[in-house]
Amino acid sequence: MNKMCTFSASLWAMLLSATIVTGCQAENEPTPEQLTENTKAEQQTTSETDKKEEPSATAPDSNGQTGTSTPAAGISSNPSSNSPNQSGESGSYNQVSAPESISVLVNKQNKLPDQYKPKDLVYPDVPFVFSEKIEKRMMRAEAAGALEKMFAAAKQDGVALAGVSAYRSNATQTALFNRYAQKDGIEAARKYSAEPGHSEHETGLSIDVSGSTGECAAQDCFGGTEEAIWLEQNSWKHGFVIRYPKGKEAITGYQYEPWHIRYVGEENAKAIQDRGITLEEFSESPTAFAP
Ligand code: DAL
Ligand code: ZN
Repeated sequence: MNKMCTFSASLWAMLLSATIVTGCQAENEPTPEQLTENTKAEQQTTSETDKKEEPSATAPDSNGQTGTSTPAAGISSNPSSNSPNQSGESGSYNQVSAPESISVLVNKQNKLPDQYKPKDLVYPDVPFVFSEKIEKRMMRAEAAGALEKMFAAAKQDGVALAGVSAYRSNATQTALFNRYAQKDGIEAARKYSAEPGHSEHETGLSIDVSGSTGECAAQDCFGGTEEAIWLEQNSWKHGFVIRYPKGKEAITGYQYEPWHIRYVGEENAKAIQDRGITLEEFSESPTAFAP
């Protein structure tokens, strides 16, 4: 009898702790993204090939570029921001002055104002790899409309796309980055995940996209799939750019992410596509070679 009670008590304790863990995960990071993001995080530590393709740990985030270049769209130098933050952010950075600008440059050198939250977040009417109506399903209205048109165009071409992760609050990005930093170390994490305030996902203008099955979502194996190729060839027509292209790691500061697209508007996307440049380069000279 006593043995039975001990067994029952242990079972209840196990069940209770399992419920608590599951509940926390569902609240902070719903399962599908957690799955893909965790898988991705694991890849960073296990794939030698990936490591070779990563940019140098010292460039471009800690090479002293900040504050020396011509201010780009929506950016102003803000020396008062130039101090390390709690997540271990290093080096100086500029604070973005017009975070709501469609062409805003947010990267390792340019940080969104604290507490910034886009005002016009909506739920784009496109499939996602999860069913919940939650934060990461949202985008700013203009980007959401363009995304709907782009998904429809892909469908016409026989390519079924799905959203993986769009808007993230600063709190979500903080939790995500801290998790990666804990897992892989801060320097490794900084190669594939933005520190809070520095992620385009916080602008509501970016989204990670996969095929409709969610296979390879936000993972390196997404590269070369028909969906990735379609995005590379067509996303610019709808105002999006592949934000972290292959071969541009030293400029963007991040390894190749064929799944991460950023809305910049049709005209800007076309100029970026035509010139084969990154948003960083475009922001330096938005009108160069323009008709
Ligand atoms: N993976 C991109 C860089 C982000 O975390 O925003
Ligand atoms: Zn992304």
